[in-house]
Amino acid sequence: MDSEANETPVMPAPDILDQMDAHIFQVASFRAALELQVWAKVAAGEDTVERIAESHHWDPLGTRMLLDDLSSLNLLVKEGNRYRMVPEAECYLLPDKPTYMGRYLLADFAWEGNGQLAGAIRTGKRPIGYGATTAEAIDTWIGVYSRSWAAPATYLGRCDAMWQQLGIQARDGLHVLDIACGPAPKSLSLARAHPGVRVTLLDWEQILTVAGKVATDLGIQSQVTPLPGDLWTVPYGSGHYDVIYLGSITHFFSPEQNTRLFRRAHEALIPGGTLVVNAIRREYPDPTAPGLWLYAVSEGGALYDFPEYKDMLERAGYTDIVDVSTQPIRATKRP
Ligand SMILES: C[S@@+](CC[C@H](N)C(=O)[O-])C[C@H]1O[C@@H](n2cnc3c(N)ncnc32)[C@H](O)[C@@H]1O
Repeated sequence: MDSEANETPVMPAPDILDQMDAHIFQVASFRAALELQVWAKVAAGEDTVERIAESHHWDPLGTRMLLDDLSSLNLLVKEGNRYRMVPEAECYLLPDKPTYMGRYLLADFAWEGNGQLAGAIRTGKRPIGYGATTAEAIDTWIGVYSRSWAAPATYLGRCDAMWQQLGIQARDGLHVLDIACGPAPKSLSLARAHPGVRVTLLDWEQILTVAGKVATDLGIQSQVTPLPGDLWTVPYGSGHYDVIYLGSITHFFSPEQNTRLFRRAHEALIPGGTLVVNAIRREYPDPTAPGLWLYAVSEGGALYDFPEYKDMLERAGYTDIVDVSTQPIRATKRP
């Protein structure tokens, strides 16, 4: 008798797959709720299945299943036959609030939701959904930033530590250019540390409105000069800045694009000036912005490691290239 044929094969428990499956269901409910603007309706007093289904002509059974699922996911609270808001939904899921994250969350579904991700990997054709470094992503970025402003003190506190690690001190006359600045947490934290620091902020005009508001809230708007436009075409000037900061942008570009960007920055630095490149790196993956997402939303982006960045920086003329800590790279324009 063949003993092997009678042995029960040892099978691993499929826990990890069950977890992924649960995520798939959760994501489906969440997406439907975002598309249907469920929280705006509950906040407006439509707080029972009957009220919502009647006023919007939705299927009562489907409405009940969705609201109950949202309650089990802690995105609503169910009390008897009524539903009420949780604080997170109140802050981030109501479309008339400046902190609304729904637009950006829905945009995040677009990069994979159409089932194009496997296709992009087969063909290398990207971006899919939207291009993160084009003007069409402005609304998405504004949604991302609303989360950071919810706790500006914590947000800026983390930035101070980065400058210390880099050995860059706020001082009188320090000129900083922050390229693709977003709400500019890093450069504004330097400006906040010394009234003599001057920062020039480069991003799309609508995003600079956001950064300007953050600067005003911090009382440092007089230290800030906006430079609106596309980072590939806006002139940076020549030999002007002590420090240029590139935060969370270079992972959206190819090595050739990055070398071109580093050369533009090199021209704009004073001799001996410092370029800081802070990106999600291959050595330090970030589960909240996975490498495949960066790949999918850009034409040439990827996670690079320190030797790859060093090569790009050397090609652009930099010297003394240092991997400072867990992320930022410091590179110097030859004095
Ligand atoms: C991930 S955010 C980084 C924000 C900020 N540097 C930080 O570290 O928190 C990327 C920013 O790059 C900006 N951006 C992307 N492509 C751009 C372009 N071609 N021209 C100007 N800004 C751009 C976006 O508007 C967005 O604010």
